[in-house]
Amino acid sequence: MNLDLKHPMAFVPTMGALHPGHQSLIKIAKTYAPNILVSIFVNPLQFENPIDLEKYPRDLAGDIEKAEGAGATFVWAPTVEEIYPDQPQIISAGELGNKFEGVHRFGHFDGVLTVVKRLFDLTAPEFAIFGEKDFQQLFLIKRMVRDLNIPIEIITAPIIRERDGLAMSSRNVRLSEKGRNAALVISRALSGAATQQNLSAARKALHETLASEKSFALDYAEIIDADTFELATESTMKPRALVAGWVEDVRLIDNMAMKPGAGI
Ligand code: PAF
Repeated sequence: MNLDLKHPMAFVPTMGALHPGHQSLIKIAKTYAPNILVSIFVNPLQFENPIDLEKYPRDLAGDIEKAEGAGATFVWAPTVEEIYPDQPQIISAGELGNKFEGVHRFGHFDGVLTVVKRLFDLTAPEFAIFGEKDFQQLFLIKRMVRDLNIPIEIITAPIIRERDGLAMSSRNVRLSEKGRNAALVISRALSGAATQQNLSAARKALHETLASEKSFALDYAEIIDADTFELATESTMKPRALVAGWVEDVRLIDNMAMKPGAGI
């Protein structure tokens, strides 16, 4: 099946529950092509826990309004049968798929790559926009596009933050006021690390700040090489700190480029 869409087209794949972060992706898409397709598809393959899949927020009418308000020209909400009419051929995220976000989310990134490839096949856009908030996802998608020679340009969009620094996420609404305050430790730790002069000072600052907030349960905090996703060394040119952890029962992730030269 192929959608009869207008080209040139920029594509913004989403799972709905749109917030200003998604709207910023749509606005960036607008600068690349006149036709903007937003897909809303809660991909069962990327949920390792059926309860999470069931609990995932769904508000199609609200999402359509938000997508169109930001400049989308097509909003597409396919069914599971449309995306997976047959048993899909799973695309493996390889070893990196089992690290960082993949440690506790077995098969998550295979599910992400499988649906993104399928969405690309069905829509064949010239451009596709992904946010830096899901940095590992972005890396894996770029690698898949390169490895499979997919003729789509991947555009990366910066993290959109609340005024107080909290990275925007559909999950933030699940935090109490107290939890929200505690969650600010993440962006504080990242910003503090980004001002350090070398990698070991950045790592120390990151961990110390995160440990200072008792309501934050750390999952991981690492500085990686954004070009390879290996742990950064002193000679890494593009170090990037990744943080994941829990506040209340909400899992939060964030990341930030370290100051140029921080790893040198
Ligand atoms: O980032 C997301 O919302 C999803 O992982 C994506 C890329 C739309 C695939 O389902």
